[in-house]
Amino acid sequence: MRIVVTGGAGFIGSALVRGLLGQAGAASVVVLDNLLTGKSENLDEVRSRIEFHDADIRDYAAVKGLLAGADLVYHLAAIPSVPRSISEPELTHQVNINGAFNVLLAAQRGGVRRVVYAASSSAYGDTPALPKVEEMTPTPKSPYAVQKLVGEHYARVFTEVYGLETVALRFFNVFGPRQDPSSPYSGVISVFMAALLDHRAPTIYGDGEQSRDFTYVDNIVELCLKAAQAPGASGRLYNGGVGARITLNEAWRTLQKIEGVEIPPLHGPPREGDVRHSQADISAARRDLGYRPAVDFEEGLRRTLEWFRQRKG
Ligand code: UD1
Repeated sequence: MRIVVTGGAGFIGSALVRGLLGQAGAASVVVLDNLLTGKSENLDEVRSRIEFHDADIRDYAAVKGLLAGADLVYHLAAIPSVPRSISEPELTHQVNINGAFNVLLAAQRGGVRRVVYAASSSAYGDTPALPKVEEMTPTPKSPYAVQKLVGEHYARVFTEVYGLETVALRFFNVFGPRQDPSSPYSGVISVFMAALLDHRAPTIYGDGEQSRDFTYVDNIVELCLKAAQAPGASGRLYNGGVGARITLNEAWRTLQKIEGVEIPPLHGPPREGDVRHSQADISAARRDLGYRPAVDFEEGLRRTLEWFRQRKG
């Protein structure tokens, strides 16, 4: 078995690589990553057990060479940020759309059995209905949301037109160890972690009453592994969340409680392209993939905080 993880040096990708290595059987795990947002150190203690290629999904020839003959591809490589897609629309378009197309084309031509595609909950946009169900009409609000949605459509069309098996998973606000808190585009939980450990106030954009289905990364790894195997899932789309909805104010309160500190947050203006509320209906993934998110929000926060604490030393 040859399994390729694009974006395998990223936050979610590197967790998936660990999940794959932990499975029974002798699969060879190949990571394709250009280290633009991923980090080599995310693979430190597993490096001797994988094949790493510093390659860019915008480079079709490179992708083709690495995917040829693979059994399975997890396509996680992307520039995963709503605000970055607003400030750098061309770059994010090229990576998130052209890159996804290259991966699908190379997979189809290279005889890959199935591609699991990392889609995004941002596709739902700001429609009032909650929780979000896969059948809802997408209303993307940012270039990033459009880009990830185009990849989903391409995946389904590659299944219908060319017979390549694909499964698209709309990830909802994933957090956990190895999420990078240091960029202006970092996911909010990683930013909160860094602030908490420094005993600094984080900045919450807007009133903090916006909510997200914050999902611990190991749940998403489990979902990816199941999506790769489930019969009958090809050509389909599934939400990947927990099914809960937590406001930013609640998230920061919970973290203060865990750490036993009291640090009132700062508030800045609301962020452009922001969705107000987000929550997944995960019944389809439960039914078809046997997905059961095992780690709830607070437990996920504890695990993540422990990792950040150890890294800080
Ligand atoms: C979005 C997508 C998600 C996607 C992710 C990629 C939605 C609902 N979710 O997440 O599917 O994979 O982009 O990055 O569209 N915030 C602060 N302070 C900070 C940083 C962020 O208050 O320092 C706020 C943001 O304004 C937002 C919330 O925290 O309201 C979450 O932001 P972020 O972690 O960037 O993720 P989303 O944009 O929700």
